[in-house]
Amino acid sequence: MDKPRVVLGVSGGIAAYKACELLRRLTESGHDVRVVPTASALRFVGAATWAALSGNPVSTEVWDEVHEVPHVRIGQQADLVVVAPATADTLARAAHGLADDLLTNTLLTARCPVVFAPAMHTEMWEHPATRENVATLRRRGAVVLEPAVGRLTGADTGKGRLPEPAEIFEVCRRVLARGVREPDLAGRHVVVSAGGTREPLDPVRFLGNRSSGKQGYALARTAVARGARVTLIAANTALPDPAGADVVRVETALQLREAVLKAAADADAVVMAAAVADFRPASYATGKIKKKDDQEPEPLALVRNPDILAEMSADRARPGQVIVGFAAETDDVLANGRRKLARKGCDLLVVNEVGEHRTFGAEENEAVVLAADGGETPVPHGPKEALAETVWDLVAARLG
Ligand code: C5P
Repeated sequence: MDKPRVVLGVSGGIAAYKACELLRRLTESGHDVRVVPTASALRFVGAATWAALSGNPVSTEVWDEVHEVPHVRIGQQADLVVVAPATADTLARAAHGLADDLLTNTLLTARCPVVFAPAMHTEMWEHPATRENVATLRRRGAVVLEPAVGRLTGADTGKGRLPEPAEIFEVCRRVLARGVREPDLAGRHVVVSAGGTREPLDPVRFLGNRSSGKQGYALARTAVARGARVTLIAANTALPDPAGADVVRVETALQLREAVLKAAADADAVVMAAAVADFRPASYATGKIKKKDDQEPEPLALVRNPDILAEMSADRARPGQVIVGFAAETDDVLANGRRKLARKGCDLLVVNEVGEHRTFGAEENEAVVLAADGGETPVPHGPKEALAETVWDLVAARLG
């Protein structure tokens, strides 16, 4: 089989150096990559670097190798175009259909999926001109990643960082796997909770659980690749932020509740993949609890945490909002799942069997998705991303 052809467009921001890492990941995983830098990108990273890393010729203008009609061919033959970093200027030229260099020509002739990974200062990202250009590109079917929040060039911090190349690569992989299908969650805001809550006993101890967050992160990644605006509420995970998602970090069930309810106010769908503690210690000791040699330990008093999933399902923030829960069961999985779906009042419940070495922390999962309308979708043992895609298929069908 031919290698998938990827065009890596690079525009002139300092983050251009990070595109070298993205290029490496693409080539090493078996993609044929043609780098198309803008003239200003070459001021940051030279053509020799792009040519050496890609193994392909590099040009910026339509006037090189004219007999090969590169301004048309490169775009026509691509399976994916990814522009990383995409500057405000490149987004503007793409949104307006300009064709003043090889990259913009390529964008006009490409009929494959297009991913933009913007990187710029916060002010430029927030400017109404950029907002409108991004909205235009998204409306036309491009996946435009939300920039990450963090250190920018110089001493500034804020939204505008290029997401980590490894995570942009994950988006590219998902988008390529979907082929020429339109991003069907474009224009949708989805909220995903991931990880496991920690309920503190004292400054050094907590009650927690074994959730790694991998299933929730897979849900966030796949939703980004399907064009959604994603808010990921992450409870105590050690995973890198998925490219394009807005990440909110929380620790306890009460913090998770506050963050989810806030994000859900304008969400089309909420997927509660996090393992939320049902109980928390009744009191918090501000100093470390000491053991007393001559006394048996005190029994631990617990109080109930609010059931966020049940609460949101009973009182939807928006009409038609689709709500998905997860249920980890150790026995009588389907019967318990059906009962839980009815009790929680959500639209879909992903039921999986867990045990000491199953599911938690693993790369793979196996589940049945139960629907409130009686539907039952088995998902065979496979990557957590495959389960995530099935969940979004079912959500997208309900969003209409
Ligand atoms: O009742 P159980 O904990 O098994 O339910 C699991 C589902 O309910 C998950 O989707 C989890 O995120 C959600 N949940 C919640 N609030 C809780 C406990 C669980 O939203 N306090």
